[in-house]
Amino acid sequence: MPVAPNLFERFVMLQLNRAPGPVLDLVGAGGERAVGLALDLGLFEALATGPATLDDVASQLDCEPAGLEPLCDFLTALGYLTRDGNRYATTPMTERWLLATDGVGPWLTFWHEVVFPFWEANMTTAVRTGAPEQTLYEWLDDHPERWQLAHEGFRAAAAVLAPTVVEKVSLPSHARVLDVGGGHGLYAATLADRHTDALVTVFDTEPARAVALETARDAGVVDRFSFIAGDYTTDELGEGYDTALLFNVVHAHDGPENVALFERVRDALVPGGRLYVLDQFDGTGRTTLARATVGFVGLTYLVTLGHRAHDVDDVVAWLAEAGFEVTDRESFLTAPGVSLLVATPAK
Ligand SMILES: C[S@@+](CC[C@H](N)C(=O)[O-])C[C@H]1O[C@@H](n2cnc3c(N)ncnc32)[C@H](O)[C@@H]1O
Repeated sequence: MPVAPNLFERFVMLQLNRAPGPVLDLVGAGGERAVGLALDLGLFEALATGPATLDDVASQLDCEPAGLEPLCDFLTALGYLTRDGNRYATTPMTERWLLATDGVGPWLTFWHEVVFPFWEANMTTAVRTGAPEQTLYEWLDDHPERWQLAHEGFRAAAAVLAPTVVEKVSLPSHARVLDVGGGHGLYAATLADRHTDALVTVFDTEPARAVALETARDAGVVDRFSFIAGDYTTDELGEGYDTALLFNVVHAHDGPENVALFERVRDALVPGGRLYVLDQFDGTGRTTLARATVGFVGLTYLVTLGHRAHDVDDVVAWLAEAGFEVTDRESFLTAPGVSLLVATPAK
């Protein structure tokens, strides 16, 4: 994708069932491979300064024009490029979402180079046995050079949501914020940027440090940003925090593990502190895309972590077991299927 069938095609394929709907998935799978390769080759960057001929782009990318042309034409059909005679140009979608610094290019590259190859290697086992032989995080620990790609990918995904999510996080003055599993640091840095008296701390494993500090530098908040390396299941999280974030973390754990983690976070909070839990929860998708997205991430969590998108009611119950009361829930138009739970330690 984004191949968007027109009304007639939708009617014939999806309503009348007279043409094979699965072809859409075939084209979408091909699109993912084409965009992944284009990002890897630097095709979009080669066109970033303006339209160029096939021969010019081919020589910049060290490709045969005859080989590059079908790739460019497929990307043109998908809406990533336009073609005028022998010249190609980027489209507004490509400029906004793949070339801009807050675009999703690194997120797609992470999928292309790490997650989908991991799917290929582990999906059958995960579906047959309920879990992969090794989780993606364990695999990344064995291939540490790939962690950077992962954190840059997580950061690019977070960039879409961070400005909106951070608006929902209310902080007291001079707040101390702990971002547990905060990895790339974009949520913490965005909060620090918005609340100029807040001190933010990202707690994650060592491989996230370099990306997190780069994020803090780019946001101009290094002096109020710190990084603690550790394992959030066993290492000391600290204490005296007003606010804690657990974003895209609970899906990597089962109920008892999440209860234990919530308890550790509760102990790090001051009385009356707040915990924000963000994730994609089963049963929260209200639109076609939201339901498909939750299904997609649910399968991904199975293949990569041996878990699933948790039901939001289960997470609320685990929070209660750990002594939290959920006071609010938010969902986001720009991120189908993502929900934010706001919880405070019960009195
Ligand atoms: C999916 S990423 C989420 C990153 C960020 N919170 C976000 O929402 O974009 C999960 C993060 O949890 C971290 N993580 C996983 N297990 C961990 C553990 N046991 N201790 C510390 N960090 C861990 C990973 O390194 C990664 O940065």
